[in-house]
Amino acid sequence: MLMNTLWSAFGSLMGLFYFGLQVMVPCLPPAPLSISRLITDEYMGSWHFVAVSVWDEDDLKDFKTADNSMLHIQKSDDDTLTVTESFSIADQCQKITWTYNTSVLDPFLFRSDMDAIALVWDGKFVNCPSCIIILHVDGDDEISTMLFDRGEKTPDEVIQKFKSKMECLYMEDFYKSPREKAQCKLDAAA
Ligand SMILES: *[C@@H]1O[C@H](CO)[C@@H](O)[C@H](O)[C@H]1NC(C)=O
Repeated sequence: MLMNTLWSAFGSLMGLFYFGLQVMVPCLPPAPLSISRLITDEYMGSWHFVAVSVWDEDDLKDFKTADNSMLHIQKSDDDTLTVTESFSIADQCQKITWTYNTSVLDPFLFRSDMDAIALVWDGKFVNCPSCIIILHVDGDDEISTMLFDRGEKTPDEVIQKFKSKMECLYMEDFYKSPREKAQCKLDAAA
């Protein structure tokens, strides 16, 4: 109970801090989606990976080996999200599943091995109502911002806007999924 009160006070302070930061750094995106917004039907389900921006070009390696990546986000009963990533790699379909704890510190998602944290934004700040943007930070300090879309056709203006917004935040290394391999369906993935 006390912990809950403390966390929510901390959350409000973070909100204020973020608001102040946005005034000073205009290209910062709006506040991320709260957990209660995120776990609605609007955001659960499948998303197509569109593009990624990183600070350190080395962090693009993993993205370049896979193609046609998709995310499948599902809510579980125990305050967790099950996130399955499916992708084509060397002409094979593969998948990886992670669990994220939603009850640690709103709006942060903590991967269950506590080795990665994610934040999610809606696509409004890149003018894409059908998109989400995920910031992912892992234990090796690999930081990436990924653009996902519900549909398969993301307008070029959206991708360019995402790229330039990220450049403004010094995430200058950018990679767009080529989608040259056959689409990888979740149930076909090994
Ligand atoms: C989520 O994190 C909270 C707070 O650290 C912890 O009490 C809870 O057991 C975790 N839930 C899961 C399913 O790991």
